[in-house]
Amino acid sequence: MTQSPGQGQALDNLLTESRTFPPSDEFAAQANAQPELYEEAKADREAFWAKQAERLHWDTKWTQVLDWSDAPFAKWFVGGKLNVAYNCVDRHVESGHGDQVAIHWEGEPGDSRAITYAELQREVCKAANALKSLGIGAEDRVAIYMPMVPEAIFSMLACARLGAMHSVVFGGFSAEALRTRIEDSSCKLVITTDGQFRRGNPFPLKPAVDEAVAAAPSVEKVLVVRRTGSEVAWSDKDVWWHELVDGQSDVHTPEAFDSEHPLFILYTSGTTGKPKGILHTSGGYLTQASYTQHYVFDLKPDTDVYWCTADIGWVTGHSYIVYGPLSNRVTQVVYEGTPNTPHEGRHWEIVQKYGVSIYYTAPTLIRTFMKWGADIPAKYDLSSLRVLGSVGEPINPEAWIWYRENVGGGKAPIVDTWWQTETGAIMISPLPGVISTKPGSAQQPLPGIGAKVVNDEGVEVPHGGGGYLVLDEPWPSMLRGIWGDEERYRDTYWSRFGEQGFYFAGDGAKYDADGDIWLLGRVDDVMNVSGHRISTTEVESALVSHPTVAEAAVVGASDATTGQGIVAFVILRGGAGSDAGGAEAIKALRDHVAKEIGPIAKPRQIMVVPELPKTRSGKIMRRLLRDVAENRAVGDVTTLADSSVMDLISAGLQSGKSED
Ligand code: WT7
Repeated sequence: MTQSPGQGQALDNLLTESRTFPPSDEFAAQANAQPELYEEAKADREAFWAKQAERLHWDTKWTQVLDWSDAPFAKWFVGGKLNVAYNCVDRHVESGHGDQVAIHWEGEPGDSRAITYAELQREVCKAANALKSLGIGAEDRVAIYMPMVPEAIFSMLACARLGAMHSVVFGGFSAEALRTRIEDSSCKLVITTDGQFRRGNPFPLKPAVDEAVAAAPSVEKVLVVRRTGSEVAWSDKDVWWHELVDGQSDVHTPEAFDSEHPLFILYTSGTTGKPKGILHTSGGYLTQASYTQHYVFDLKPDTDVYWCTADIGWVTGHSYIVYGPLSNRVTQVVYEGTPNTPHEGRHWEIVQKYGVSIYYTAPTLIRTFMKWGADIPAKYDLSSLRVLGSVGEPINPEAWIWYRENVGGGKAPIVDTWWQTETGAIMISPLPGVISTKPGSAQQPLPGIGAKVVNDEGVEVPHGGGGYLVLDEPWPSMLRGIWGDEERYRDTYWSRFGEQGFYFAGDGAKYDADGDIWLLGRVDDVMNVSGHRISTTEVESALVSHPTVAEAAVVGASDATTGQGIVAFVILRGGAGSDAGGAEAIKALRDHVAKEIGPIAKPRQIMVVPELPKTRSGKIMRRLLRDVAENRAVGDVTTLADSSVMDLISAGLQSGKSED
């Protein structure tokens, strides 16, 4: 279908999409980025990055820009010392901008709060003092399981200030998902809220923490922000935020930490059932987050109002709500709720209310806005918008054009930004004002970044050719490993093109005739649902942990709204009862997955089948299941151990199909 960003479609785009949109002279003249930036980076990459690092305040200057001698473990700005929170908060107060609003926070029920940099500094200091009083110090791990409330940002910055590592876990994940993440990195403290407002109602959050903490002995304390005011169970580990933090001194002297001091862990799905704790450090990460925020979004701190619609539970929220924007002294909107509460114009109402000028969101949401209709944004004054961003999955040209016309007034440049939890910051994107944008393509690696499309042998493909996306030079915000698993780090990213020393991103990609890069989706067993990465294996493990399931195979099938949708094929156990393939049983399985992982991992569809297609060596042939899930003729079955299996599956589907 036309809105699917799957492989075939992106290829089609390439054949039909020839529109380009040059920047207006007016935009180009005022843009932060000028064409020389590319030349400058090419001439001397390390000198270029050294100059970008000068955007930050260093207590001790580095002696070496990059040490790659221990590859694939990079050290950037070696010997340098800085405090990340000081760079995001205090220095703006010291430079005379204490009264500038840092955060226009908008709660879902309509409550709001404007937080200036001076206030942010006081809040972060109080939180840092509170965390210290709970015994948190450098390198301790703190789990943050919170909705989009200001205290979530205060907490992240308080950790950074103390040199403690935060591990933010998305508030939509289950107790079990939270527990495994807490356990993997032995978190000492969990920060949470009593609940959150979603779709007009208060939802509890703390019960999931209670359940997780009961089985996670590393946790000493749980700090709880009151958000909804609902009743919560209380244990002797629990401490109210307002009782502990509010009474603290609002002064705290930040300590400078080494450039390679760990900043955070963020878990992301890989190809096995166990999420990977992606490790990021301080100086290089903040340098690239800050650099990309400035150039890719053309951010002008004195006049812009910026809004990134991501959740802090994902890397976009880390790099483009907290570290990139705040290190650039942004004024930004942070919104707690869902885009259709209380009505489908909520985002546009917020844009109008605050005069948002830079808006960064995900294709899945743009496609949802398309479904709701262009008449909705048309009701609001969106003339303040001057730069639009997209992230999380390939954006199909239809959605891109719709975004440009109906949100960007036919003139705001759109930056399609490709990056990953692992890359820490944007890697491939047009620079607004310099590059003529092309609907559907992320186009060019940023100045200072090396990216290529290569074939199976690691040889760069010619223009018009397709293959794998690799990063061929270390970059400042690159991951420094997977928490506690060096081997998995090497295997996952550095073994596929080990000989060439390339980082393997896991994405298919293609060059067009101009040499612009088009992303074609994942080439591994990782799905992309609404811009969120979910592993097929993780959902399979959740399914087989249910007593009625004997075997399960999960595939990502193209979905007009969410990019991919999760489709599960399950074989039920013999004794699973007469209703085993019925609606009830399927609902129970979907709920079970939600409980094990979180509602985002609920399969869109579960098909009960008698067999799964396997090769002679026992590997499930997901390609064939994807054909079924996408209603295509089933492809080549010659490597199947038993070629009649696909007929059995097709025959069995009539009885076992279930959709919401
Ligand atoms: C994967 C990374 C980066 C923050 C959000 C997701 C896909 C991301 C794009 C884009 C095409 C994209 C890739 C990538 N992806 N941005 N602009 N065009 N694909 O972070 O969960 O680490 O997922 O998202 O497949 O590998 P993540």
